[in-house]
Order: sequence, then structure tokens, then C-alpha cells
Amino acid sequence: MEFKKRILVTGGAGFIGSHLVRLFVNKYPDYQIINFDKLTYAGNLENLRDVENAPNYVFVKGDIVSISDVQAAFETHGITDVIHLAAESHVDRSIEGPMDFVLTNVVGTVNLLQTSKDFWKGSDHVFHHVSTDEVYGSLGVEGFFTEKTPFDPRSPYSASKASSDHFVSAFFHTYGLPIKMSNCSNNYGSHHFPEKLIPLMILNIQNNKPLPVYGKGENIRDWLWVEDHVRAIDVIFHTGKIGESYTIGGLNEWTNIDLVHFLCRMMDEKLGREIGTSEKLITYVTDRKGHDLRYAIDASKLENELGWKPSIAFDEGLNRTVDWYLANQEWIEKVTSGAYQKYYSNMYSDR
Ligand code: NAD
Ligand code: DAU
Repeated sequence: MEFKKRILVTGGAGFIGSHLVRLFVNKYPDYQIINFDKLTYAGNLENLRDVENAPNYVFVKGDIVSISDVQAAFETHGITDVIHLAAESHVDRSIEGPMDFVLTNVVGTVNLLQTSKDFWKGSDHVFHHVSTDEVYGSLGVEGFFTEKTPFDPRSPYSASKASSDHFVSAFFHTYGLPIKMSNCSNNYGSHHFPEKLIPLMILNIQNNKPLPVYGKGENIRDWLWVEDHVRAIDVIFHTGKIGESYTIGGLNEWTNIDLVHFLCRMMDEKLGREIGTSEKLITYVTDRKGHDLRYAIDASKLENELGWKPSIAFDEGLNRTVDWYLANQEWIEKVTSGAYQKYYSNMYSDR
């Protein structure tokens, strides 16, 4: 079959990437989706079992830090477009060791940009770079991040993502590479690796383990249903303006401690425990170094220009998320065996 587009999705085996791959494989049978992923601890092909035999899906194991891996994928599959999600994504890991973040997030992104520039002739292509609101730094109690907010990254993770965003922008201005960018707030949903707040708390509540809340739990995040994020990427990829960036968020701010209390109550009900049981597991631990106080997004450009808006309320999304984790013990056992145990004990045992 002659495909209309052959899209390289990097990081397609990760949390957000697997939701994006599933959406595109099912919605666009006339596109070929080439999932290019190194399968680090965060990448898991189990996330894509339901689409792995689809005629328009291909998996390529590769490392974006290796230019020859990237070039081979472009040559073999005649890549017409890129949606770039591959990254080292966890702030706490970046504090422990920044270099993997520099390699994958910066060098890997430049390899993809350089290869796209070398392979693509004409303008009928899109390089969509998926990034984070963390590039804008930390908000006080008021205000929102918009596309115009100056970059002020404060963790090694956000510094590496900001650097990658700058390179994407530079390839547009210098070489005319047809890029689009999006900067999103915190996602939640199924297949979220349990080093991140929501899945970690769900697993610990289920297993009656301490719930490690950093500092006083007063930091604020703006949570968005992962499927709303990938719908936004779909809309921007197809109808966003070349050379522009779009901020994406849920207008759904929660302090960490309120969110953990909410999860405790929800899970007490689901697990048939007396309400208040799980809250006793809350343990305040040493704060994250350089912990950004608040993220909040004004997504009005995306809403007004491209017609996107979040589709579900937070309690509904969180209910579905908890139900997914409770129903997928095999997935949990797989991702939490081996290296995860070591990570957990390094990160939390003396905290
Ligand atoms: P994730 O950690 O769950 O998945 C990352 C994926 O990238 C994994 O499949 C991993 O195997 C792959 N990968 C890592 N290094 C690679 C390399 N060198 N070569 C090829 N593949 C590699 O991350 P996520 O949460 O799904 O985030 C995806 C993207 O979205 C990232 O760029 C992240 O910065 C961005 N983002 C995430 C959030 C969020 O809340 N999770 C919010 C905004 C933006
Ligand atoms: O804002 C978008 C970003 O959201 C993405 O770019 C990142 O890839 C993604 O990991 C996420 O970063 P955060 O650092 O905000 O997410 P995390 O789930 O690690 O933490 C959310 C909040 O919860 C944060 O304030 C730290 C706190 N926290 C986290 C963990 C893991 C705790 O209090 N205890 C914990 O054990």
C-alpha cells in the first residue's frame, strides 16, 4: 500500500507516545506510523499490544543519540514527518544524573533535526517537537504560562528540554525546517510509569506503603488527561502553523497534598476500605531540590485558533486511571520488577 505519510514517532513505547501511536494507527489507516524507540526503562512494547499487528504500524528499536540509527530509519522507511516524543522525562532522575538528559534530549533532538533537514526536500513535511511547560520555570501564586512566556528552566530535565526547544526553533529560523512545537502541562492516565506522582501513589495506596509527599505538598501542577494531550498533538500536527508553538493544559490546578488526599479517598472506596484508612499512609519527605512551586497553562491560543479543548473532568479521568491500574497487575509487575526496585530504594529509602 502507498501511504500518504510515513510518520516517525520517537518514544512511541513510552507513556504519552503509546497513546499517540494508538490514536494515529487507528484514526489514520492511510498513514504509516513508524515507532522509533530505544526501549529504556520507560519504554514498554506491552503498551502497544493492541496495535502491534496493524498493517500501518512498524516498530524500530533505535537510539536517537545515534545518528546512524536515525538515518537508517529515514532511509528504510522514507520518513515524511516526525512527531518527536523520545526523552528522558523524570525530573528526579535528572537531579541524580543530568548527562543522559543532555544526550537524549539535546543531542538526540539535534540528530533528528539534522537528519530531517538532510532528507527532506520541499516544504510538505512536519517536524512536531513535543515539549513541556517546565521550560518556563516556576510560577508564583498568580498568572499562567503562555507561548510568550520567556524560558527559565530550573532543573536539569527542564534545561535539557528548553535547549532542545531552542534547537528546534533554530532549525526553523536558520534552515527553514518546517517545525511545530507544543509545551504541555502534567499528563495522567493509563500506562504512566510509576516513578511519577499519580501512578506511584496509586500503587503505594494499593500496597499499603508510605505515600512520599515532597516538602509540605504545597506545589501545584496542572493535570491533563493524556488522551486530551495526544488529541492536541493531532490537531497541531495537522492544522497548527509552521514555525509556531502552542501551550497545552487542563485548567486543572491541584496542590500535591490535595491530590493525594483525593486519591486516598477514591481508592478507599474502590478497595472497600474505611474512608480515612489510606490517608494515614501519607509521609512528608525531604523536598525535591529546586522544586518548582507552580505550573499553570493558558491554552487559549490552541483553543481559539485550532478549536481544541479538554474532553473530560478530572474526577472522571482519575477514576478511569485508578481502574486501569487495578485491572492491570501484570503490567505493573512487569514494569516494577528489577531496576525499578533499585530506583525506588535509592530515591526513597533515606529520604
Ligand atoms: P516516558 O519517559 O514515559 O517515555 C519516553 C520514551 O522515550 C520511552 O519509550 C523511552 O524508551 C524512549 N526513549 C528514551 N530515550 C530514548 C532514546 N535515546 N532513543 C529513542 N527512544 C528513547 O515519557 P513521557 O512522559 O511519555 O513523555 C514523552 C514526551 O512528552 C517527552 O518529550 C516529555 O518531555 C514530554 N512531556 C511529558 C509530559 C508528562 O506529563 N509526562 C508533559 C509534557 C511533555
Ligand atoms: O509539567 C510537565 C512535566 O510533568 C513533564 O515535562 C515531566 O516529564 C513529567 O515527569 C512531569 O514532571 P513533574 O516533576 O511535575 O511530575 P512528577 O510526577 O514527578 O511530580 C509531580 C509533583 O509531585 C511534583 O511537585 C513533585 C511531587 N512528588 C513527586 C513524586 C514522584 C511528590 O511529592 N512525591 C513523589 O514521590
